[in-house]
Amino acid sequence: MSDSSTSTGAHRAEQPAPGAPETSGAAGAPGVGHAARGPAARGSRSGNAPKQIGEPLISARGVDKFFGDFQALKNIDLDVRRGEVVALIGASGSGKSTLCRCLNRLETISGGEITIDGQLLPEEGKELTKLRSDVGMVFQSFNLFPHLKAIDNVTLGPRKVRGLSKADADQQATELLERVGLADKANSLPTALSGGQQQRVAIARALAMKPKALLFDEPTSALDPEVINEVLDVMTELAEQGMTMLVVTHEMGFARHVCDRVVYLDQGEIVEQGDPEEFFTNPRSERAQAFLSKILAH
Ligand SMILES: Nc1ncnc2c1ncn2[C@@H]1O[C@H](COP(=O)(O)OP(=O)(O)OP(=O)(O)O)[C@@H](O)[C@H]1O
Ligand SMILES: [Mg+2]
Repeated sequence: MSDSSTSTGAHRAEQPAPGAPETSGAAGAPGVGHAARGPAARGSRSGNAPKQIGEPLISARGVDKFFGDFQALKNIDLDVRRGEVVALIGASGSGKSTLCRCLNRLETISGGEITIDGQLLPEEGKELTKLRSDVGMVFQSFNLFPHLKAIDNVTLGPRKVRGLSKADADQQATELLERVGLADKANSLPTALSGGQQQRVAIARALAMKPKALLFDEPTSALDPEVINEVLDVMTELAEQGMTMLVVTHEMGFARHVCDRVVYLDQGEIVEQGDPEEFFTNPRSERAQAFLSKILAH
């Protein structure tokens, strides 16, 4: 984490994503809402019109998670609104991954409830499959299928789950790979791609399912410093296009300059949340102050 603040300090939100075209309908940009923007109109950072933040798309109410006797999440109340980009930060073991996994129902919750776009996350069955595909997930370890070319990694979900024809899935995947700057790597196997390129394929793969929201769990932590920005650039572009995103990250520059809100988790609890600029310059809780002084000291 030593260079996390510097690498994203250098990360400029104004930079265009590599090769990302202005428009691509493939993933949709569901940033149309009716509620007023929060205090930080970050949509103006690149000169675009401020994006709109809508109604809650992901809602957690009183969520508890136990592993045996150990309580990993404590009474979590969290809304991620349509078009909003939320950074989830906290020390190792604070429960960030567990929260993401619960929101996507990769883990069951022990108490409370989670709704996605107004619908209660079901325990299992077809409805769960559908709701789960509404919330895509991008992991630290890209989890691409090693025997499939980049394009086939992207088309697999749409073909198997959404029943798209090969031609339609290929066309969509080609557009998405172009959008993440990898048009020329469509036929490469993952082993022939750098970590940053593999992670961009993983983002294209998540987008191919046309999710309403994307969860990122430390998407750049496994990457060499020199390729972190190419992934952050793609994520910035998605944010500006109105994708709803919850991002677990140690990239404080990204959290501060790209996200609409920061949520700080400690020992399974949301200790503090708010406007990134305020959080980073004037954290209210002692725990957040201690956390920030540690990570920003590097
Ligand atoms: N399957 C599990 N069984 C038992 N305990 C678990 C399990 N998964 C997570 N935990 C515990 O829950 C707590 C939260 O873990 P989690 O992985 O969510 O932390 P994190 O904030 O993502 O940390 P990191 O920054 O290191 O990724 C930790 O104490 C962890 O040991
Ligand atoms: Mg984690």
